[in-house]
Amino acid sequence: MTKLKPLKDPWGREIRSLRISLTQRCNLNCIYCHHEGEKHQKKQNQEIPLEMVVRIVEVLKGAAGIERVKFSGGEPLLREDLPDILARLPDLRDLSLTTNGVLLEEIAPLLHHQRLRINVSLDTLKEDRYTRITGAPPKMLSRIRSGIDKACELGFLPLKLNFVLLKGVNDDEIWDMVSYIRELNEKWGEGSVILQLIELLDFGGIEGLRADLKVIEEELKAISDAMRCREMHHRRKYLIDGVEVEVVRPMDNSEFCANCNRLRVTSDGKFKPCLLRDDNLVEIRDLTDEGIMDAFVRSLALREPFFKG
Ligand code: 5AD
Repeated sequence: MTKLKPLKDPWGREIRSLRISLTQRCNLNCIYCHHEGEKHQKKQNQEIPLEMVVRIVEVLKGAAGIERVKFSGGEPLLREDLPDILARLPDLRDLSLTTNGVLLEEIAPLLHHQRLRINVSLDTLKEDRYTRITGAPPKMLSRIRSGIDKACELGFLPLKLNFVLLKGVNDDEIWDMVSYIRELNEKWGEGSVILQLIELLDFGGIEGLRADLKVIEEELKAISDAMRCREMHHRRKYLIDGVEVEVVRPMDNSEFCANCNRLRVTSDGKFKPCLLRDDNLVEIRDLTDEGIMDAFVRSLALREPFFKG
């Protein structure tokens, strides 16, 4: 079969991946959470149904060559039908999900999908800080760590740890995270776990938590053994002492926007052309296959970089 060329938006950005929010529900309450840009949308429990998720992926794979899908939330492991969604998806080049890890140890064995990658949000290795950041009850951290081990044991690799840098809260823990990942790699194999350092996106009210990742990136650059650049968002990766560290700097970063090749789907079934806007959503629920494709093309036309440089 010939490979489909990805469709482009008016800014010449090819759309290669979908990020689908499966639910707004979450079992943590992180102080910085951007709620996938759905914060100001009115809460409603009409979650996008399983059939619709599968059909969106099928249609966009077939008609637009989209082979990369990421599930997020809220907390996607709270969707009881997640194992069924995964089982019914077409074969994809890249499938991943982002979880807070609370339910990972018990749910991971139910997720039968070849090549599923898992990202776990983990912003600290200290119990008191974890509670401060996420609102979780004490002792949750060891449960998250067991979940990470379980996912590695089951081969959902490479597993990424998302670390959002928070000024005065966890900005002294990067090297501890690198050491923790080195330990995990010793246990589960070289390159099994990757650190993703993420700059805080400020949606209002959390300015005080923003730390400059640029400064830290300069430090990484100076000591790294090698550097590579990912196509997606032009994210840079550094190899520090055998541990891969990826840097994600979305704020005020025109390069980040210029290289954005993903389209979002909201938890209630709408295309969302930009994380940072909610005034240009395109309804997908109850559409035919042609309707989904038409809505996709309309969403592409609405896409524009938030930061234009
Ligand atoms: N800034 C940056 N990243 C965020 N995430 C959620 N809220 C924010 C924010 N304000 C990302 C983190 C987290 C994942 C669930 O979403 O990567 O791990």
